[in-house]
Amino acid sequence: MKKILVTGAFGQIGSELVPVLQEKFGIDNVVAMGHQTIAEGFDGILERADARNKESLSSIIKKYNVETVYHLVSLLSVKGEIDPSVTWDINMNGLKNILDLGVEHKLKIFWPSSIAAFGPSTPRDNTPQHTILEPTTIYGVTKYAGEGLCRYYNIKYRLDVRSVRYPGIISWKTPPGGGTTDYAVAIFYDGLKTGKYKCFVKPDTVLPMMYIDDAIKGTIDLMEAPLENIKVRNSYNIAAISFEAQELAKELKKHIPHLVVIYDPDKRQLIANSWPKTIDDSEAKKDWGWKHEYDLAKMTRAMVENLRREFGIKS
Ligand code: SER
Repeated sequence: MKKILVTGAFGQIGSELVPVLQEKFGIDNVVAMGHQTIAEGFDGILERADARNKESLSSIIKKYNVETVYHLVSLLSVKGEIDPSVTWDINMNGLKNILDLGVEHKLKIFWPSSIAAFGPSTPRDNTPQHTILEPTTIYGVTKYAGEGLCRYYNIKYRLDVRSVRYPGIISWKTPPGGGTTDYAVAIFYDGLKTGKYKCFVKPDTVLPMMYIDDAIKGTIDLMEAPLENIKVRNSYNIAAISFEAQELAKELKKHIPHLVVIYDPDKRQLIANSWPKTIDDSEAKKDWGWKHEYDLAKMTRAMVENLRREFGIKS
């Protein structure tokens, strides 16, 4: 069987996607590629390489006879602002390498875009699939440009590259960091460990979010959908749950009654303000059957159970 390559395999999404792919397609058919971060004790095929290095990518693709790539390498919105040039280099040149190799080797490619591709001029409620994209972070600029590049490669070379605009992903295997929506992960980490959380966005901040299991299922479903169903070639809107930061705190208090959350908004508030509150995902539903399963209560329960087990905390 031809292999699946996951780049950014030890990031927030890769850490959860790789085991699911291993389970589904066999541990010997999934190549996990990391660069700086490699999970300790990782079980499976491992390659260490920088996605900006086309030769390394090319030799991995040839070595394993790779057929499908999930190209997850990316710096997120907050980390991206530290050095916009490095962010452009990693996010764009890594993608361009994969797309070019995709044409050469006839690969099927998944690449994630984000709600960060939108900006302050985008309608914030029920954000349409086709709308204004004027992002104000370098991360968002790379997602916007990347969407255009994916669509172009599909038109020009018939490359089968598929994408979704992930909302904030709420997950537990990797610690929060680097993103604006990560407040909704950090609240679980700090809340469970210390009973306190200092939140960097205002209590009434609403952002689109999604539990990791829904994101992983949607990603694989998109990749398995028949070719003729894929009508959107820049990136599909997908949605699950939108809530105020204070609503999440209230839900979490059902599990941690002594939890104290204080609000101390910083620069990240401005990024949050530039993104949608709710997303219209009707095209993804229609074209390839996207649907989510986790609501706020179910997601909160899953996060608490998983992290309690991970941290060895009794309920
Ligand atoms: N989670 C990302 C961020 O906050 C959004 O795609 O940067």
